[in-house]
Amino acid sequence: MEYDELLSLMQTRRTIRALKTDPIPDEAVEKILEAARWAPTGFNMQPNEFIVVKDEALRKEIKRVVDDYKNNDFYPMEATREEWQGHPWTMATHGTHDLPLAPVFIVFCGDTRRRVGLPMAARYSRQKGDSIFESSLSNAFIFAWLAAHSLGLASCPISAVKYPKLQGLVKHILNLPDYIWVYDILMIAESEMDPGGKLTRPLAEMTHQDRAKDDEFMDEETLRKQIKKLRAGNVARHGEAGQ
Ligand SMILES: Cc1cc2nc3c(=O)[nH]c(=O)nc-3n(C[C@H](O)[C@H](O)[C@H](O)COP(=O)(O)O)c2cc1C
Repeated sequence: MEYDELLSLMQTRRTIRALKTDPIPDEAVEKILEAARWAPTGFNMQPNEFIVVKDEALRKEIKRVVDDYKNNDFYPMEATREEWQGHPWTMATHGTHDLPLAPVFIVFCGDTRRRVGLPMAARYSRQKGDSIFESSLSNAFIFAWLAAHSLGLASCPISAVKYPKLQGLVKHILNLPDYIWVYDILMIAESEMDPGGKLTRPLAEMTHQDRAKDDEFMDEETLRKQIKKLRAGNVARHGEAGQ
């Protein structure tokens, strides 16, 4: 594969929240997971476990607990955004945004017992061990997301499963043992919309050479303005978010 092809795949991958409910082929799911399998993991501990949920009753049950969580906890949390951030996402202004019932939910999990493969200094540092474990799981997640996109399929994460209450409820629904950590869920479906381009920070602003100058990183006021612009860009789209 040429660089330009890879770059274009990465540039056009999006979070798509308008998803069709039509089934998608099993071969597509297998290809997505085959890609995820090759993701690099810290110390090669390979903690990934992929749970493919196609059963409608299970998907509905997951959707129900996630929707409950979002409406009772997440949107009220979003409503605590400060004014400078702009565009608070509240139920009053945006409705409730329940999850679509995508035909496939891939639940990305890690087997915490595999942390035994870490050297002791990492294994017995909770912070370091967690960081290596989570980064390893996130690599598989993004490999899968890109693979789904390469197959013309839309994906949307349900990261709320990281919150303890949902973690427990989803594990209960799927009968997962204690030592399995639910990292995230990726819903996979046909897309219901064209997501368009996206607003990104310019490369020159993010790239630094050798030793940093004293004023090399954006000052806080400009940074706040940019955050606001990037948030608004979720609606506007495309181009670079300069200052
Ligand atoms: C770690 C991570 C967790 C995310 N969790 C969610 C989520 O739970 N729900 C959601 O709708 N989008 C989620 N997103 C999507 C981000 O909002 C999205 O990636 C970002 O706004 C940029 O848009 P793009 O993915 O279309 O490039 C998540 C993205 C990342 C990287």
